[in-house]
Amino acid sequence: MNIVVGVTGGIAAYKTVHLVRLLIKAGHEVTVVPTEDALRFVGLPTWESISRNAVTTSVHDDVAKVRHVALGQAADLVVVAPATANTIAKMAAGLADDLLGTTLLATTAPVAIAPAMHTEMWRHPATRANVETLRGRGVAILGPADGELTGGDAGPGRMLEPEQIFATALGLLRPRDLADVRVAVSAGGTREPLDPVRFLGNRSSGRQGAALAVAAAERGADVTLVTAHIEEEVLAEAVQHPSIRIVRSDTAAELGAAMRDAAADADVVVMAAAVADYRPAEVADGKLTKESGRLRSIELVENDDIVAGLAASRMPGQTIIAFAAETPRDEADLLDRARRKRERKGVDLLVVNEVGWQQGFEAAENAVQVIGEGGAVIATAAGSKRDVADGIWDAVISARR
Ligand code: CTP
Repeated sequence: MNIVVGVTGGIAAYKTVHLVRLLIKAGHEVTVVPTEDALRFVGLPTWESISRNAVTTSVHDDVAKVRHVALGQAADLVVVAPATANTIAKMAAGLADDLLGTTLLATTAPVAIAPAMHTEMWRHPATRANVETLRGRGVAILGPADGELTGGDAGPGRMLEPEQIFATALGLLRPRDLADVRVAVSAGGTREPLDPVRFLGNRSSGRQGAALAVAAAERGADVTLVTAHIEEEVLAEAVQHPSIRIVRSDTAAELGAAMRDAAADADVVVMAAAVADYRPAEVADGKLTKESGRLRSIELVENDDIVAGLAASRMPGQTIIAFAAETPRDEADLLDRARRKRERKGVDLLVVNEVGWQQGFEAAENAVQVIGEGGAVIATAAGSKRDVADGIWDAVISARR
């Protein structure tokens, strides 16, 4: 891929050296376009040697090749990192007084920016408005992160780490084969309260569900992500994605209500959340004590099966996907359980994986099979939860055809 990396005048420019290195190591052709100001932080020889390409800042260099528009026209992706408040303002206004400005105006490729500035500047209404303008034009805003800044102060304004920029920016190059598809995904594990301090929960981390939401959004879908309990860190990418709306819930009843809402205008419904089958019959107002004896045994009542309900009332053309985490005796038992569960729930697709004490939960890796019409295994996917998410979406797309 032809990737233009715009570098503007912020101290975070030194981190962009590593970003360029990552892109080169991944086999991309990289042209660095710094602003004059950026060169005060990292010099031209560094950019040329790291990118292995000539570097200029001015529209008056290399005029014979019409470089001021050629770079943008040839680009498959443009990443501006760091993007200062000044550059963001120039982009919003469409100014083109240097090579980076003309390149940005001449390109039709996806554009991502990684803002870096002091918190006050990031929060200034002018910057807020400029960022919203860019977002409205489809520019991906990567970060900024919340953390330590150069003045010794801290807050939002820190440029994302090069690895994050690398992964998210390249994500923009994925096929947009879910464009105009509305998706509702649930993720995480529900918590059923016993009293103000205790709950019945499960080990679901929500990683696979969050990865499904991010993968769908990057492929062009409009996503509602309904979360049960989930670590903030697992949601970090989803929170930043402009096409993901996050609705938070806690109990199975809340998750059910939120999913029914989201499903009302969704083309695809994915129930990746681990939902408690039962909840305590009574929730105590005060903390239950040992003395009360009420913790010795807990009466449970059954929760509604959310996905079965969604499947039973599905709209024409809507695709419903359930998940199953099983501890089978063997492969045949795994498939047998999955097929029966798919029938019982009345869903279109069932994604099954094997779990155990050391397997499946909280891990970064996963391996699944997708069961479709007639109980056939229509796809398998393994690898990072992101890879698995993409494999599941491939299967969903082919099943919907
Ligand atoms: N699910 C749901 N509502 C529930 C329980 C589960 O929507 N009350 C969904 C999960 O989100 C998942 C699928 O159903 O997509 C499978 O959940 P699982 O707990 O494996 O199904 P059960 O019917 O409870 O089967 P088992 O007896 O094996 O636990």
